[in-house]
Amino acid sequence: MNRQPIGVFDSGVGGLTVLKQLVLRMPRERLVYLGDTARLPYGTKSKETVLKYSMKNASFLLEKGVKCLVVACNTASSLALDELRKNFDMPVIGVIQPGAKKAASASRVRRIGVIGTLATVRSKAYEEAIESYGSDIEVTSVPCPLFVALAEEGWVEDEVTRRVAERYLRSLKDKGIDVLVLGCTHYPLLKPVLSQVMGKDVALVDSAEEAANEVASLLREKGLAAEEDGSREMCAPTVCLTDRSLHFLELGENILGLPLNEVEYVDLG
Ligand code: DGL
Repeated sequence: MNRQPIGVFDSGVGGLTVLKQLVLRMPRERLVYLGDTARLPYGTKSKETVLKYSMKNASFLLEKGVKCLVVACNTASSLALDELRKNFDMPVIGVIQPGAKKAASASRVRRIGVIGTLATVRSKAYEEAIESYGSDIEVTSVPCPLFVALAEEGWVEDEVTRRVAERYLRSLKDKGIDVLVLGCTHYPLLKPVLSQVMGKDVALVDSAEEAANEVASLLREKGLAAEEDGSREMCAPTVCLTDRSLHFLELGENILGLPLNEVEYVDLG
């Protein structure tokens, strides 16, 4: 039995989609979430900057005594995972590889689409990860930066969002993909519109869900999982933020489906 918490970080509120999957998958685990609300967005920043922020986030969580680190942010997972693994002596799990693995196994026609931030798409991290599961797979990636703002605005099933999605996703539809990877923390919130636009023959792969499964098996494998103690109570996650973001709480409770009673504000310099 290991009662140390799992550390999770993201650039802000979007990573709560990953936190939610972790809570659902492992209700007995203690979770500490760090949202770097002072420095978001990461998706438009350079590798050097995302790397620097990611290292600070990981150091902060290490001080909280976490047993493993989950990089919920797709951009940080794309750009900083190797460096985090080199520098921190604990399991570090990103969202790219679990999403890529699922996508590769789900595609019959071997044509997969990936959507994400500009930085994630430019990094080619998803392409490389998917192709490592099958060199016959053709991957087409499209950056969809407006989706982050639309999700944060709460326009999740809105005509404007549908039209934006039609425009962003047109080239992927023309390619005849059968799997679309939602390669950004915010995109699972837009699933209804995305599946409407892509049609029923295209499977949506949610990297958040796949990452939570990966964390659960890794903890079990390494003997790091918190044991069941018979109680059905869910551990409420601890949330830390680097800025008093105006709509984090409201949006966060919506995404997580749990009250965010206590938020700790931290200064990472
Ligand atoms: N969390 C980021 C990601 O998944 C999206 C928001 C941002 O750009 O910071 O890539």
